[in-house]
Amino acid sequence: MTLTIGVDVGGTKVAGGVVDEAGEVLAMVRRDTPAEDVGKTRDVIVEVVTELAADRRIEAVGIGAAGWIDASRAVVLFAPNIAWRDEPLRDYVSSAVDLPVIVENDANVAAWAEFRYGAARAADDSMVMFTIGTGVGGGIVLGGELLRGAHGIAAELGHMLAVPGGHQCGCGRLGCLEQYGSGSALVRFARAGARQEPNRAVRLLGLADGDPDAVTGRMVTAAAQDGDQVSVEAFAQLGKWLGMALADMAQILDPQVLVVGGGVIDAGELLLGPTNRSYVEALAQRGRLPVASIRPAELSNTAGVVGAADLARRR
Ligand code: BGC
Ligand code: NA
Ligand code: ZN
Repeated sequence: MTLTIGVDVGGTKVAGGVVDEAGEVLAMVRRDTPAEDVGKTRDVIVEVVTELAADRRIEAVGIGAAGWIDASRAVVLFAPNIAWRDEPLRDYVSSAVDLPVIVENDANVAAWAEFRYGAARAADDSMVMFTIGTGVGGGIVLGGELLRGAHGIAAELGHMLAVPGGHQCGCGRLGCLEQYGSGSALVRFARAGARQEPNRAVRLLGLADGDPDAVTGRMVTAAAQDGDQVSVEAFAQLGKWLGMALADMAQILDPQVLVVGGGVIDAGELLLGPTNRSYVEALAQRGRLPVASIRPAELSNTAGVVGAADLARRR
């Protein structure tokens, strides 16, 4: 049996795991991402791989990274939320750990894991996934293959236009979906609501010691679950934008399954309810035509690791 390592490099955490051919995670290591320091981020990745590879025969390493990866799966060209610019991650890690390495977009990797082993495992042809975190990521599987595009950077679904002239995005443009459908947007909506209407955000402000600027995503989830109006509405706004984007993807690709993943789906129906309503409304003109349903991701914490490891095995 061959083992590969998958590493998921996000804006806040580096998670690595040893994965077998059945997609089972045999060992797992987590560290904080020193996101502002490219050199340290590299070293944390090498540390994680080295620790996992000790005393094991590892065939290859897959790295899922939150950015735009070149077609040869070697270089992170750009990352909106990490300081990577033309970062030659594959060669650096490969020579440091002396193993073959591939680098792939974090959301592509998560989508691949959900397609093979998670919420879309019943699909044999096509799925589209949105990952909701610091940013909004996208992954597309068509004809049973991950869609990578002509230059390696297909499926940047978070940078579809949502609002012309809207909120500034980390990619340099105004009004991307990421600014309305991400975990960061959720916090921004909730903070603004708490500032404007504090008496409708009593539970949320209670968790944040009365300071709207201290509100975090977890607080918004907890307060919403407790009925806090501003927090419930923040999720409803997120769902509205995501539902429209999901409908666009259904129009373009007509996939078998749509998947939404990321920490915010812990809020369950508070997010998925408004997302589904917005999706159905946006597709209303389709009448009774068949359409993919939206499923919550199933692998949550391990999707990045499992997907990256599987892609490394198939390199
Ligand atoms: C980046 C994507 C990434 C996503 C999720 C976006 O800002 O452009 O490459 O997949 O965040 O991390
Ligand atoms: Na992607
Ligand atoms: Zn953008």
